[in-house]
Amino acid sequence: MVSVEQVSRRFGNLVALDRVSLRVNPGEVFGLLGPNGSGKTTLIRILTGVLLPNTGRAHVAGLDVGRYPDRVKAAIGYSTQEASVYRDLTVRENLEFRARLYLGARAVSCAVEETLRRFGLQDAAHQLAGALSGGWRQRLAIAQAVVHEPKVVFLDEPTTGLDPVSRRTIWDLIHQEAARGAVVVVTTHYMDEAERCHRLALLYGGKVIAQGTPHELEQLAQQSARVAYSETSLPLEQIRAMPGVLDGWPSGSGVRLILEKNYPTPNLPLQTVYPNLEDVFIVLTRRRIASTMNVDEKGGAA
Ligand SMILES: Nc1ncnc2c1ncn2[C@@H]1O[C@H](COP(=O)(O)OP(=O)(O)OP(=O)(O)O)[C@@H](O)[C@H]1O
Ligand SMILES: [Mg+2]
Repeated sequence: MVSVEQVSRRFGNLVALDRVSLRVNPGEVFGLLGPNGSGKTTLIRILTGVLLPNTGRAHVAGLDVGRYPDRVKAAIGYSTQEASVYRDLTVRENLEFRARLYLGARAVSCAVEETLRRFGLQDAAHQLAGALSGGWRQRLAIAQAVVHEPKVVFLDEPTTGLDPVSRRTIWDLIHQEAARGAVVVVTTHYMDEAERCHRLALLYGGKVIAQGTPHELEQLAQQSARVAYSETSLPLEQIRAMPGVLDGWPSGSGVRLILEKNYPTPNLPLQTVYPNLEDVFIVLTRRRIASTMNVDEKGGAA
C-alpha cells in the first residue's frame, strides 16, 4: 500500500509539493495527472526514497519513506521519466542487470525469462536496447522496473512520445501489473490515459486539487459547470468573453464550451455534452485561476 499524509517539499523558495495526501491500495492503478511542473516527479521521487519530504509522512509497502529510504528502494520498482535503459546492452542483459540488484543468482534467470514472456520481449531479447523503437524501449523500461515482481511500482510518464497503439499496449501491461496485486502509481499528461486509471489525483501547482475515480471527477465538474457543444459561427474570442464561459475551443464545425452553472445560459444554440477529464481539469483549474486573480486584484487595489 502507499499512503501519503500532508507531504510538502520545497526547493529554495519554490513549493513543489504542498500538503499532498493520498492513498493507493494493492491491485489499483493510480494516476497522477497534471501539467509540467505540477509536482508529479517530485512526489514519485519522495515515494521511491530518492528525495526526502520537508514535512508530512509517507508509507510505501509498510515502510516510512522518511526513515527507511533505502529499504523502500529495495521494496519497489521504479521507471524514471527518462526511461533509462543501457543502450549498449541487449534487452535480456538489461533485465538481468536489474534483476541481479534485487534477486539471488538462482532466481535471476527464471525472473528474466518470465518477464521477457510477460512483456512479449522474447523475440527482441538479443537486440541492443539502443536499437529499439521508442515504444519497445519503453516496454523494456517497464519490464525492468517489475522484473523482481515488486509489490509497489512507480512509472513516471511511461507513454510520453508514443503513438496511440504503443500507448495502448503499455496500458495493458500496466493493468497486468495491478492484476497480479501490485500497487501501481503512474504519471501522465494525457487526459485520455488518465481515464484508464482506477483512481487519480489531479495535481496543479504542487497541490492535489481533486482525487477520485474518473467518473467521480467528471461528476464533480458537473456540479459547478456544464460542458456543451454549440454549432455557432460567432468568433471564438466573442464566445470566450461571454459571462459564465470558462473556456471554449473549436470542435468539428462548432465550438466546445465550458459554462459556469451559476451564470445565465449564453444566447447560443447548445447541446449538453458529457464531460471528459480534460474538461474536468479546465473546470477545476480555471475556477482556481479566477479566484486567485480576484485575490490579486483585490491585493493590487488595496
Ligand atoms: N531538484 C530540483 N531543484 C529545484 N527545483 C526543482 C527540482 N526538482 C523539481 N524542481 C521544481 O519543482 C517543480 C515540480 O517539478 P516536477 O519535476 O515534480 O514536475 P512534474 O509535474 O514532474 O513536471 P513534468 O510534467 O514536466 O515532468 C518544478 O517547478 C521544478 O522546476
Ligand atoms: Mg515529471
